[in-house]
Amino acid sequence: MRMTLSAIKADVGSIGGHTRPTDEMLDRVRSDVQSAIDRGLLIDGYVFHVGDDIAIIMSHTRGKDDTEIHQFAWDSFLAATAIAQEYGLYGAGQDLLVDAPSGNVRGAGPGVAEVEFEHDPVTTNNARSAESFMIFAADKCGPGAYNLPLFLGFADPMYCAGLMLPRMIQGFDFNIIDMNNTGGDSILTLHAPEDYYQLTVLLRDNERFGIESISSRSYDGQDAVSVSAQRLHNIAGTYTGKDDPIAIVRNQGIFPAPEEVLSTFTKAHYIGGDARGSHNMPLMPVPMNTPVTGPYCLPIVESLGFSMNAAGKFSANYVDFFDNPAWDLVRNKAQEKALYMRDQGWSGPAMLPYTELEYGGFRDIVTGLEERFAYKAE
Ligand code: 13P
Ligand code: MG
Ligand code: MG
Repeated sequence: MRMTLSAIKADVGSIGGHTRPTDEMLDRVRSDVQSAIDRGLLIDGYVFHVGDDIAIIMSHTRGKDDTEIHQFAWDSFLAATAIAQEYGLYGAGQDLLVDAPSGNVRGAGPGVAEVEFEHDPVTTNNARSAESFMIFAADKCGPGAYNLPLFLGFADPMYCAGLMLPRMIQGFDFNIIDMNNTGGDSILTLHAPEDYYQLTVLLRDNERFGIESISSRSYDGQDAVSVSAQRLHNIAGTYTGKDDPIAIVRNQGIFPAPEEVLSTFTKAHYIGGDARGSHNMPLMPVPMNTPVTGPYCLPIVESLGFSMNAAGKFSANYVDFFDNPAWDLVRNKAQEKALYMRDQGWSGPAMLPYTELEYGGFRDIVTGLEERFAYKAE
């Protein structure tokens, strides 16, 4: 059967600042998902939050960019927005940027990641005798937050020894999106390993270039990864939110193992987009359903693991990858790196450069001051 996994995420309001949605909002989205399963739109679904963003993970057979699936997620986010408005929550409806999405929600505010594949998990299926995948969901960061970890996980044997094995030694295709191009999705496909350096030249710029998807170079070019890489402030023309990305990563067998992909998150690397969308801070791996309450609302990432049966139903339990003592050390490292960066307040790399500041107000002030510069009289 042709299977699609859709992960759609939006910030539609939160308690006491940009922290987390209410239980009532989450319950509403969960009951919408259950109704969609009952009426056959979805095979399965799962709802959780990362900081103030609500994420819906869905399995279905309708393909990518399906109007009904996207509309379903939109309507559910609208229902959660209504609850946020009723209780006066902060940023109610923040990521719903248009009155009604036309066809699909890409470009309308919510983050969308989708993979599609032939699903036939039997022991004789050489490529995928079992389907397992992980979700990464991040808050308080820019859409390029996964550039470094996903590149290392899918192109560098220092992090993924599996790349040296026969099933992966052909490497992976990386589809890179130029997020400055607002005319549409502008994509360049580069090949790892031979384009390794070209990839790093682009991916070092997390604010402009993002990994949009990764696919296998053997096994019929199967989808490996999909990331919601888009810039909300490019879409809306003004600050609206921080494009906090969600990603689907298929794992094991012909793809890296979870431990390989996860190992790249031990860096707690600095990324842009934190606090007013305008600062550089380290990415802290946290357990699922973590509110953002730290100083300068440190960027956070959650990771969940699922298995899926032949009918497309998720395993009754998920795995919460970052809910493990191994990650405590990384969390401490992230907070320590954060303190070092915050020591220098607004100076230099602590904040994003002028063109990337997501709060347009910063730019307006600079522009107003620029107009007052005058040449010294000779
Ligand atoms: P969100 O994009 O998660 O709403 O964060 C807003 C912000 O910039 C908090 O400082
Ligand atoms: Mg918010
Ligand atoms: Mg958010």
